[in-house]
Amino acid sequence: MWKMPNLTDEEKRILQGEEGVVRQKCMQYLVELCQISGAERLVDLDGTCDMHTPGLTLSQHIAITFDELSDYANAGGKFALPTFANKSPFGEEAPVHGWEHCNVCSYRIPELRHDDPEFHKKAMHEEEMALLKKMGMITTHSCANYLTMSYLPSVGAHCAWFESSQMPYCNATLGARTNIDGTLATAILGKAPYYGMHITENRLGTILVKTDRLIHTDMEWDVLGFAVGEACDVEVPVVTGTARPTTTQYQKFNSACQTGGAVSMYHLPGFTPEAPTIEHATGGRPFKREVLIDNDVLRRTYDSLNYHKTDKVDMVYLGCPHLNIVDLMLLARKLEGKKVKIPLWIMTAPWLYNHAKELGYLEIFQKAGAVLMSGACLAAIGAVPDGVDCIAVDTAKQAQYITGCYAGEDDFLQVCYGTQDDCIDAALTGVWHGEWR
Ligand code: F3S
Repeated sequence: MWKMPNLTDEEKRILQGEEGVVRQKCMQYLVELCQISGAERLVDLDGTCDMHTPGLTLSQHIAITFDELSDYANAGGKFALPTFANKSPFGEEAPVHGWEHCNVCSYRIPELRHDDPEFHKKAMHEEEMALLKKMGMITTHSCANYLTMSYLPSVGAHCAWFESSQMPYCNATLGARTNIDGTLATAILGKAPYYGMHITENRLGTILVKTDRLIHTDMEWDVLGFAVGEACDVEVPVVTGTARPTTTQYQKFNSACQTGGAVSMYHLPGFTPEAPTIEHATGGRPFKREVLIDNDVLRRTYDSLNYHKTDKVDMVYLGCPHLNIVDLMLLARKLEGKKVKIPLWIMTAPWLYNHAKELGYLEIFQKAGAVLMSGACLAAIGAVPDGVDCIAVDTAKQAQYITGCYAGEDDFLQVCYGTQDDCIDAALTGVWHGEWR
């Protein structure tokens, strides 16, 4: 028997429809989420929201119609908290920039292609997006909004975010609080079920993770993140034996630990905001267990992310999660004056695409024969260009998502996983030389 959460008088009024059908449907959805998650009440959000757009379908049986949303927006309805758009509109998740070069078929409707202007127009959901913008949606369109938006939640702020790399970034890196519930409902009502990472006790470390080599390169952080995810699942690891991560390394670790497992919160004693020491990280409680992620485990994890029978690479994809502006700058330096032999696609956020254009990086990429795109994700698009049997990537998350997503005529897509330099080398030579180092 589902238990009804404790609602305030205001929340009850919304549920009864006294504030209109849109808010009523949103509240119905949040009540269902409470029942599923076991949350006994809702929490008022005071941070930010990240949501997939348009997102009118809240659950299998609760959807807000276009007309209802239109009436709501035209009557002055707004989002209750700063709300940022996740990747390009849900469904096709087509590139916002660079779509002309996206020579792949739609995953859902194979006879349609992403480089078709008509298809692109439809995929952008302009009418729905206009309403969401009117309500306050900030159209960042990124899976890494934390490095795109210029407004981050403060420590302890209750948020409603979405997307695997973003969850640990919000909870562990920033010290704000979120579960994976960034939706139209949480954005409109400014409320979310009070469970999981909103509750202080659930954020305390439960598993001690040790390493036997100092983790300091980008790939070590990425592989460690995946291994931590596999070892810890939904627990809260306290990871020791690492150097201080860079911003890019946080990005990689966060996306990987939510891909290898479902780690939404972790502590790096001395580095993350809620863990000046191991004692702070655990609240003084004993660990449930200890895990050693040594060089052998890292090596095995690296090997598991490589699924290729050939070293002949057909395409290289960089930008999972979306590349931040510093990574774009460094990549432009590496590609300046070079020429790629096989397609190299680089993905970033639309706002950063515009900065890359202003800063001259786009021109460098174009001269090198690479394609800069924004707002999308190859794994979310769900297909690769014809003739691509083997792809090279530099993040564990993309390697995991893309392998098995696509079946060629005779086989699964093969994936070479390694460092960004390995991927650039593959783009310039067409051959994979990467190895665990
Ligand atoms: Fe973003 Fe797609 Fe990677 S959503 S984190 S680029 S798998």
